[in-house]
Amino acid sequence: IKNIAVLTSGGDAPGMNACIRAVVRTGIYNGINMFGVLQGYQGLINNNIIPMDARSVSNIIHLGGTILKTARCLEFKTDEGMEIAYQNLKARDIDGLIVIGGDGTFTGARNFSNKYNIRVMGIPGTIDNDLYGSDFTLGYDTAINTVIEAIDKIRDTADSHDRLFFIEVMGRDSGCIALRSAVASGAEAVLLPERHTSIDELVSQLASGASTKKSSSIVIVSEGHKAGGAYDIAKQVKEQFNHYDTKVTILGHLQRGGSPSSFDRILGSRLGFAAVNEMLQGTSKAMVGLRGNEIKTTGIDEALSRHSFKLENDLLEMTKVLSI
Ligand code: F6P
Repeated sequence: IKNIAVLTSGGDAPGMNACIRAVVRTGIYNGINMFGVLQGYQGLINNNIIPMDARSVSNIIHLGGTILKTARCLEFKTDEGMEIAYQNLKARDIDGLIVIGGDGTFTGARNFSNKYNIRVMGIPGTIDNDLYGSDFTLGYDTAINTVIEAIDKIRDTADSHDRLFFIEVMGRDSGCIALRSAVASGAEAVLLPERHTSIDELVSQLASGASTKKSSSIVIVSEGHKAGGAYDIAKQVKEQFNHYDTKVTILGHLQRGGSPSSFDRILGSRLGFAAVNEMLQGTSKAMVGLRGNEIKTTGIDEALSRHSFKLENDLLEMTKVLSI
């Protein structure tokens, strides 16, 4: 293998830059020519591919976002799109592709590597933590830190006014951010896509807090929750339980930005280093991930198939006890 390209695709995540830096420098250290693809799969199709050297990734380890830019690309889902992308790689003799992203990125990588003879390695980079085979995905830790910083501030005002707040957090169909944020912020309740909580159940939990002199409460709603977003849930709760003045906050895209935590910088560095080394040893169609503080590889198919098993059930049980 002589030439490797790296791209970031899908939603950006803090720690991606630390990871790009590790990929580029590990490749160069091993005598490989390194390339960066701008704007993910869209850049592969548009031939937006640039050579990278060790200095192209200087002073980026602490930055959120991705210097390679990112996009959600529909064209790469078509045979025509993939063919153009392949020809652009072939024209530069690029025989290895490293993709950093979430489940959409991995689906693209799987389809591409099934069709063409090119080594592909995936690195789990998404705040959602929704890939099987890595206990943590890149950006998840920073996103939780950002969420709890925001919730801490909301708690100050919720407490001052004796209010009930519904706070919606990201995660698409994964409740990981919501659950960990609930534990770390001491939320009174959390609604997750993976577990059904009825409005009756939620109301009885809030009423029991009110009856034991809780003057304010915080409910975290994961965006993928089946009964609706934070506004819908707040409305349904209010119809049955009007003890508190109620407010809603949607945290939105602020959860995706910011300087990566030490955890995400180190994880990004470890995963980038490992992805290149695995590829140089002949591994392909696989993802590198962190399992029990060791770097392990998982087949891309497996990584895509089982994320709903990731929710930490013990944390869910614990939030109910610790928020009485
Ligand atoms: O996958 C990361 C994520 O932030 C999800 O949590 C969220 O559902 C989605 O991306 C939002 O996507 P976009 O930035 O394209 O609106």
